[in-house]
Amino acid sequence: MQTMWTLQNSLCQIMKKTVHTLKCKKARYGQYTKTYPVLDGSIPSVCEHVFEENLRNSEACIKRYSELLCKVRKGGGENAILRHTQRNKKLLVRERLRMLLDDESFLELSPFAGFDLPYGDVPAAGCLTGIGKICGVWCVFVANDATVKGGTIYPISVKKQLRAQQIAIQNRLLLVYLVDSGGAFLPLQAELFPDQSHGGRIFYNEAIMSAMKIPQVAVVCGSCTAGGAYVPTMAEETVIVDKIGSLFLAGPPLVKAATGEDISPEDLGGARMHSKVSGCVDHFASSEKAAYECVRNIILTLNYELPPEKTLEYDDPLYSAEELLGLAPQGYRYTLNIKLILSRLVDGSRFQEFKAEYGTTLVTGFAHVEGHLVGIVANNGELTHDASLKGSHFVQLCSQRSIPILFLQNTAPHAAEPTSLSQAEAHTNRLKAQASMMVAVACAAVPKITLIIGGCYGNESYAMCGRSFDPNFLFLWPNARVALMDARHMSMFQHAGNDDCTELNHLKEKLDQESSAFYSSARLWDDGIILPQNSRKVLGQCLSIMKQQKYQIVSLQHYPVIRL
Ligand code: COA
Repeated sequence: MQTMWTLQNSLCQIMKKTVHTLKCKKARYGQYTKTYPVLDGSIPSVCEHVFEENLRNSEACIKRYSELLCKVRKGGGENAILRHTQRNKKLLVRERLRMLLDDESFLELSPFAGFDLPYGDVPAAGCLTGIGKICGVWCVFVANDATVKGGTIYPISVKKQLRAQQIAIQNRLLLVYLVDSGGAFLPLQAELFPDQSHGGRIFYNEAIMSAMKIPQVAVVCGSCTAGGAYVPTMAEETVIVDKIGSLFLAGPPLVKAATGEDISPEDLGGARMHSKVSGCVDHFASSEKAAYECVRNIILTLNYELPPEKTLEYDDPLYSAEELLGLAPQGYRYTLNIKLILSRLVDGSRFQEFKAEYGTTLVTGFAHVEGHLVGIVANNGELTHDASLKGSHFVQLCSQRSIPILFLQNTAPHAAEPTSLSQAEAHTNRLKAQASMMVAVACAAVPKITLIIGGCYGNESYAMCGRSFDPNFLFLWPNARVALMDARHMSMFQHAGNDDCTELNHLKEKLDQESSAFYSSARLWDDGIILPQNSRKVLGQCLSIMKQQKYQIVSLQHYPVIRL
């Protein structure tokens, strides 16, 4: 079996190398050099058993990923979909996005947010967020899914919308809201209203973003009640769909309860009323299709100067992306050399390594991903003193040269405990070096992407640009483990002489469950799980998205557009 696999692998590599050589001969040299050294990505035969174990684990993780994605895509379920499409005559959220966005694939963010939370399952947190192109411009979108409890806002929906706004701010991307929301999910109102990062923050951000010259356009394509009504009313430009869109602080049932008066949603806050009388919206659209066309036209008035369309020329990696499944470690002990992963992610498997012989448990260097130059910082073991110093130096180089940084994170579950004074001294020195790296990472004035390919454990994860260090994007593979420490290392907390292991076992089980990538993604500790074989495409999209701000017309202005 293993011999077969080796033979297939070798044949595949030979064919790929031949095709690559032909391609290279044909390709014109683009804007970037293709002379970086080529990485050897062939998997050593002694590692085949680890590869096979990882592969089995990845297949199980991907099965779970696919099942969950299928469930999430059904939104609020069959009955809610029928109510939405047949009774309320509205388009489903993905149909809306198809009309709004250009005809190319978009980057969906955090589809598993809201999965299996203490207050239940909230498919995709009740709203889709992502980044797609409209008339060639990358835009963030936030689109309520009204099949999930009438598009009402759960605590996790607030978090998802705030994250979308933060992405728009950090990458200077305009934002389009498709609003179809009954406002707060009332049973959880205490977790939605008063605190700093609760619902009101969405509206605060709208004002701040406008002052930062980040345009926001909204479409009222359903009932927008209470909190749902502020999003379009605070956007810079708003479109409403006739007979489908309505906007009010309290809907007809509340009016009836308070005044006894029967009033239709149309008369209370429909499209004609708001476009003719209140001025809460700016454009009347006779259908949903007309509304999305109107948004596309609004985008064309933003005065963005994008570079002329041209396709970047680049080489594919020499090694198959499918093999990343066998390289994605099922646990820290199953980690293979990071360069095997790099050789399957970067253009032409070419890598200009920095300080190759020093601090080798961290690999640093330059490469291209789908034609974009990046600095790569990748764990290849524990973040030692030397590795941390090398990391600090390299991150500063990238910042100095304005090169985005890609962190490939696979941090160790725990560091060995010191057993002597000299070891304790070494630990202190390492701590100091890691602190330097944290400073360098936090202050590097360049876009950053973090991809967790294995472990995201404890303090080393900060230096590797974990969530709290504000990378522009953070994704993880489905095999990833995210926790303060590995469950296996909890036994060191067992008191000597204490034979009752029940509590400890319970804690270990809990930690193990809470370390899964799905647990993390459900809580929005990341921007989504991506499959190893799709990583290159996602990273390429992110690098292209982050580059767009270079081409916008930005002038200093510190006041927002105020609706009058
Ligand atoms: N909080 C909690 N659940 C809500 C809700 C809210 N604010 N608004 C609606 N729901 C639930 C409904 O109970 C229903 O649940 P079910 O599917 O388990 O029966 C589901 O969302 C869909 O509501 P429904 O009224 O059947 O669908 P619809 O498409 O006809 O209308 C709304 C959707 C949002 C327009 C309508 O439900 C509504 O006006 N809700 C009240 C909104 C409101 O007053 N919000 C104030 C927030 S401060």
